[in-house]
Amino acid sequence: METLRLKPDQVAQAAAFIKAGQLVAFPTETVYGLGADATNPTAVKQVYAAKGRPSDNPLIVTVSGPEQVAQYAAGITPKVQALFDRFWPGPLTLVLPVKPGTLPKEVTGGLRTAAFRNPADKLTRELIEQAGVPMVGPSANTSGKPSPTTADHVLHDLTGKIAAVLDDGQTKVGVESTIVDMSVVPPVILRPGAVSIHDLEPIIGKVLINSHKVGANEVPKAPGMKYKHYAPNAQVVIVRDPADFAKAIDWAEGKGPVGLLATDAVLEKQDAVRFKSQYSLGDDVDSATHRLFAGLRYFDLNPEIKIILAQGFTPDGLGLAYMNRLEKAAGLQYFD
Ligand code: TXA
Ligand code: MG
Repeated sequence: METLRLKPDQVAQAAAFIKAGQLVAFPTETVYGLGADATNPTAVKQVYAAKGRPSDNPLIVTVSGPEQVAQYAAGITPKVQALFDRFWPGPLTLVLPVKPGTLPKEVTGGLRTAAFRNPADKLTRELIEQAGVPMVGPSANTSGKPSPTTADHVLHDLTGKIAAVLDDGQTKVGVESTIVDMSVVPPVILRPGAVSIHDLEPIIGKVLINSHKVGANEVPKAPGMKYKHYAPNAQVVIVRDPADFAKAIDWAEGKGPVGLLATDAVLEKQDAVRFKSQYSLGDDVDSATHRLFAGLRYFDLNPEIKIILAQGFTPDGLGLAYMNRLEKAAGLQYFD
């Protein structure tokens, strides 16, 4: 199959593919998603096949807005409504009870709940409206690889496996949406993202954070949490304190060629000649989050690299989302 790169004025063609049961990758403010008609079980099964995704890991349902959610979700309480009003469209996914029989089991994994998301990208909302159906929308990467933040990343992983990618440039946030389980009391953050607990609690009161790091033999709360994620070919090691980079480099160079994933301030202090393989995270946690996945992918271009030393940030606000992804890429390995 030839995979087309569609321009912003080609939304109608993307919608025609979705209606025909084919797969189209779409832009969002977080990462690119892999779209298919969420009401078509055959199309949904192809999404699992294209990503190589385990079939017990349910998919996000991407909707055009709160009106469309009401057709599929039960339990739209005043708190849920308040979240719609404040954060949608935006990087917040809500787990809600499903109206029985409205979504195929291929989408929900047989759970009584589903995760609903209304992305801020205008093209994608147009795409859903024109297709006339909600779309499943997992990240448009090969399962286990970093999520795609450009159409090129999507094509790198999925060329020949999907009909098209709708290209709207680089994504803004860089990590996937915050997932909040609104089917339990108090609500629980299952995955941290750009909407933080500090944003949520003023609107809906007490919120818990599921900060448990899942071991290999446990049954996790969000099904996706048990799989290895965001992993480049080299081993990632997190350097918590920027002042430790020099020491960490000495240690890592004993094992083979080293890549550096750090802010400009840290990179400038290292010996630039020795480190041909380095990727800048910019200068703060916002730019670092925006560039993290592209950076992890960058080092796969150089198969010699054995260890990637990656800069840590304080795990609060957006920093919590950044560290959550980086810890998964590193398998929780720290230099200290
Ligand atoms: O920003 C995002 O959310 C991106 C963009 C493309 O929209 N999408 C995304 O989808 O990250 P995905 O499939 O890669 O991650 C969805 C996560 C998975 O970890 C899945 O296990 C969890 O949501 N999930 C889906 N349904 C669930 C449910 N009913 N209860 C708990 N977790 C659920
Ligand atoms: Mg994903």
